[in-house]
Order: sequence, then structure tokens, then C-alpha cells
Amino acid sequence: MTRLVQITDTHIQPPGERLYGLVDTSEHLRATIATIRRIRPTPDLVVITGDLVERADAESYAHFLELVSPLEMPVYVLPGNHDEPEMMASLLSHTTCFPVSDDTFQYAVEINGFRMLALNSHAGGSELPELDGEHLDWLKNELPRSDAPTLLAIHHPPMQTGIEFIDMGGSAWYQGLKTVLEGEHNVRLIICGHCHTDLVGRIANVPVYMSGAIAHQLVAARDMDVAPAFAAAPVPPVLHRLVDGEFVSGSYPWPADVEEQRIDRTSNIDWKDLKLQMMGSKAP
Ligand SMILES: [Fe+2]
Repeated sequence: MTRLVQITDTHIQPPGERLYGLVDTSEHLRATIATIRRIRPTPDLVVITGDLVERADAESYAHFLELVSPLEMPVYVLPGNHDEPEMMASLLSHTTCFPVSDDTFQYAVEINGFRMLALNSHAGGSELPELDGEHLDWLKNELPRSDAPTLLAIHHPPMQTGIEFIDMGGSAWYQGLKTVLEGEHNVRLIICGHCHTDLVGRIANVPVYMSGAIAHQLVAARDMDVAPAFAAAPVPPVLHRLVDGEFVSGSYPWPADVEEQRIDRTSNIDWKDLKLQMMGSKAP
């Protein structure tokens, strides 16, 4: 059984600073880490899909590491447009969370019967994504090395979302990835962030799960090119669980502190009886 928790876009700043002078992103991440620690069963790993910090500097990354340090399971990170991959490799080299070994700043990990390939869509000097030939060659080289069910983690969504300001990067940047995936059978899911909005889509035959952010949400209009609204609240962590060889994903993983609200307790009906009621005429 694999239980992977994803959070994204934490946008941590040096201690005491608020994002746009408004949002205490540190407090959002601190509370989220406490929530992840209460999830039962304990997740196998946590993946943070980029924009770890608002401004890439040593103080912000040190603060980020301090905030995630209470997590007892393995934690992996990858770069977003706000990060600097080279700086991450240097500042996180004393940890196991960014195990890169070449200048693509990508890596593979295999854990509990599944494989995660962390990609790097960061393009220097722009918030828009990039995945050049060197990055795709790394992926083409890694994919045949294992038959395990595989998840790709990347910061930018490799799909058109139908939201004008999110799609400014066009579709050309992920066509190479699409071609790789069309001949591939082990990749079950792509997870990403970047847009501070929850959305589900697809590239080739692979579902894409884009999680909302920990820092704040951008409430985006559909079919209208208007600036998004700002909502200063985090989303719950997403649980991607490998079930019968396929990933099943969703928010609100079972936390240890909802026992009192269980419907068998609030209704005073035994859980076994409630399940029989659900089965109705199909009950044995
Ligand atoms: Fe972000």
C-alpha cells in the first residue's frame, strides 16, 4: 500500500514576513504539517510540488526546512517558478528531500512498490514553464529502469486548463512529454501545483491532478479573461493512494481527530448495520 501526501506552493518567506504584507504563509504551512502528522494510517511520504519559497534565498529555504522538520516520514521537494533549482541543490544538500545528481535537477525514488519521478519545469527568468530536450532525455532514460507503477511530479500543469492566465505558457512546452507518455504504460498519474487552484485534467492517457496551494488560492474565472480573485486560505493536503495498481486521489485524508464525528457514533447505529443498510437488497 502506498500513501503519498501532496502539498504545493507554500511560498515561505523569512520569519516574520507576510506574503504581500497580508498572508502568514508560515502559519498555513505549520498548521498543514500538524494536519499531516494526524493523518491515519501514517502516510508513506510527503511531496511538495514547488514554489517552496516566495523569494529564493538562504533565509527562506532555512525557514521552509524548519517548518517541515516535524514530519517523520520522507519528504521530497521539487522546484517551482519561484524557486532556484541550483540554490535548492546546494542549500538542501544536507537533507534527503532533493536528491538530484545532475544539472537537470530531476530525480527518481522508489518507495513501497511505486516509483516517483520528480521533474523540473523551472525556466530561468520567467514564471512560464520549460522542459527542454535534456530534461526529456533524462525521463526517457529513467522510465524503462523499473516496471513499478509510476507517478510524475512536476510544478507546472502539463495541459491546457481553459483558464486564460494559466495557459499563457502555451502547449508547445509539454508536447515532448506527451509524446513520451504516448508510448508508456507505467505512468499512472501526474501531480502538479502552480495555479493555486484545484483542477483535474489529462495528458496523453495519463490523468493530471493539480492541487490548490498552501499559501493562498487564486479563484479563477472560466471562459472569461479576467484577473483572478485572491483567497487567503490553504487547501487541505491531498492523499494519492495506490489502490490495486492505480492512484486514487483526493483531499481530506482521514485525520485522527474526527473519531467523535463518526456517523456510527453520532447515529448510535453499529457500523456493520449501517453498511448492511447501504447494501439494501444486495446485502448477503
Ligand atoms: Fe505558486
